[in-house]
Amino acid sequence: MDKKATWDRFYTESSSRTSTFKHFEWFFSFDAVRDFIMPLLQTKSHPDAPLQVLDIGCGTSAVGPCIYRHSPLPVRVTCVDISHIAVRLMQEHVRAKAVQPHNLSSQLEFVEPDCAQLHKCFSPSTVDLIVDKGTTDALLRSKEGTGKACLVLKQCLKVLRSSGSLLQFSDEDPDARLLWLETVVREQGVLAADVQVQEVGELRGISYYCYQVTPRPHSRG
Ligand SMILES: C[S@@+](CC[C@H](N)C(=O)[O-])C[C@H]1O[C@@H](n2cnc3c(N)ncnc32)[C@H](O)[C@@H]1O
Repeated sequence: MDKKATWDRFYTESSSRTSTFKHFEWFFSFDAVRDFIMPLLQTKSHPDAPLQVLDIGCGTSAVGPCIYRHSPLPVRVTCVDISHIAVRLMQEHVRAKAVQPHNLSSQLEFVEPDCAQLHKCFSPSTVDLIVDKGTTDALLRSKEGTGKACLVLKQCLKVLRSSGSLLQFSDEDPDARLLWLETVVREQGVLAADVQVQEVGELRGISYYCYQVTPRPHSRG
């Protein structure tokens, strides 16, 4: 699940099963997590600029478009996925549906870089919120993806503002995920970030969690 070709095949096959576009949601949809996301978008970090939001490994999820649609403050939502099939499907869908934002200054875009190379597209300390629904889980579950998951987390810490947050939605148990997050964060620099967990809820007998990583100022690696 760390290979672009696997995901290209996945999105090609799931889109060929229906004649009209349908979002594919890993774990759950925006409604299950909106109360974790939207409160973090209530204060402008810069008076003249929109809040910068990333959905990393967005796939064909509606999370990015929903943030764009519902945020009262202007947001620039960048949905990033390594699969050009997912990116193309989403670009075509939002164009066809002409999704309207709550705030007319908001922007929505879909781009294709590898999240392990966010620094090529985003300057350090410029992003207010990063959402990761299932992407780190997919990387951590493949043998060769563990190193990439560490790189992705370190890149997120680099591009996040000190007032920003990374939210990872996951079904991984806190005993394992907190240890992994704290270890990678420590590698980035002593006390580089705070890590917290909240339970999202239980669905079909599985517990889901929201891991929130908040950088601390002056500790970037
Ligand atoms: C488990 S799916 C989650 C999709 C979506 N977030 C959702 O909630 O439905 C993981 C996604 O991460 C993408 N992905 C995997 N590795 C990536 C990487 N290195 N950079 C960007 N996207 C990646 C895959 O193409 C896939 O769409």
